Amino acid sequence: MAATYKPVIWNRHKRIYDLALVSGIALYLTVFVGVGMAMPDSANTSIEILLISALGACAFFMIHVVLAIGPLARLSTKFLPLLYNRRHVGVALFLVALSHGAYATIWYHGFGVLNPIVSLFVSNPRYDAINAFPFESLGVAALAILFLLASTSHDFWLNNLSPAVWKTLHMLIYPAYGAMVMHVLLGAASGHGGSPLYVWATAGGFALISGLHIAAALVQTSRDRAVTKQKDGDWIDAGPFADIPEKRARIVAIGGTSIAIFRYDGKLSAISNFCAHQMGPLGEGCLIDGLVTCPWHGWQYDPATGRSPAPYTEKVETFAVRIKDGHVFVNAIPNAKGTPVAPTMIG
Ligand code: HEM
Repeated sequence: MAATYKPVIWNRHKRIYDLALVSGIALYLTVFVGVGMAMPDSANTSIEILLISALGACAFFMIHVVLAIGPLARLSTKFLPLLYNRRHVGVALFLVALSHGAYATIWYHGFGVLNPIVSLFVSNPRYDAINAFPFESLGVAALAILFLLASTSHDFWLNNLSPAVWKTLHMLIYPAYGAMVMHVLLGAASGHGGSPLYVWATAGGFALISGLHIAAALVQTSRDRAVTKQKDGDWIDAGPFADIPEKRARIVAIGGTSIAIFRYDGKLSAISNFCAHQMGPLGEGCLIDGLVTCPWHGWQYDPATGRSPAPYTEKVETFAVRIKDGHVFVNAIPNAKGTPVAPTMIG
């Protein structure tokens, strides 16, 4: 598990996913340029400008996908595989946006006397004019954030910065999105891109992303309320234990806490639902050789201690469990990571 770092941990699913991602990007660019060339006014547009537009539009589409995956996964577990692969989409997004920015800089600033990067920043100082605003600067700001996020996407940074700092850092995706929206809108206002379609697509994309975030927050609140109703002090009624399949778990979520209650060998134990690796859903995994096994990368934990087997040192929180009238109750107050809790015997 975390004894050594590998540059990227690939498995068969990730390879298929990455192949689909790269093929999707290639298809998008080909169709965009092909349709652009076939348009009646194509004689006025060069293939270079079409490619710059295609790369920019592709990156803009991809940021919407990245931002939609989180709320979709909270609305339905069907989207969890996308969440698992979200970092690859993020890195691909950065590479597509970088190609767009670099190509645009070379094409629009590469043929003068000034260094193209200097020219990018000084050629248009009209920061006071909406219809002549140097919208490229907002693209540069977005690209700088994407670079920071892509370069810290590896587990090495997740573990060394701590999950809390890493998560806060990666919230910068929202200011990056804001800068991209303004880049596109102010670009359209100054006659670049030129199509009102961009304005409508940007408004539609913003409505979709905001709507999904609001829907996910509302669903989470109502789930929390439903669980709160089942509470007896700090104890949550997680339903009949007989319905939990052998070597499997039931997940109970309240607030930001998500608990996986496992049934195995006539016993019940509860640990955090979040794997210490990439916060994979432990409760969707099963017990293999007596150990809870994360469905994402196979990291394992003892259900009674929340600890990975030696030589690994990962730990997750544990929770107390009790049985009353055929129902399993779990205490919502977590024990410190790796705290042993004697399993509750069934019957
Ligand atoms: C160094 C950073 C960037 C520079 C210099 C830059 C430059 C430009 C330029 C010059 C255009 C107008 C192209 C035209 O004449 O049609 C443009 C359009 C656009 N850019 Fe960027 N950009 C940058 C970053 C980004 C990023 C990070 C995104 C990510 C979403 C993005 C998305 C777009 C989109 C969607 C358009 C409209 C496409 C179109 O013009 O048809 N740009 N950009």
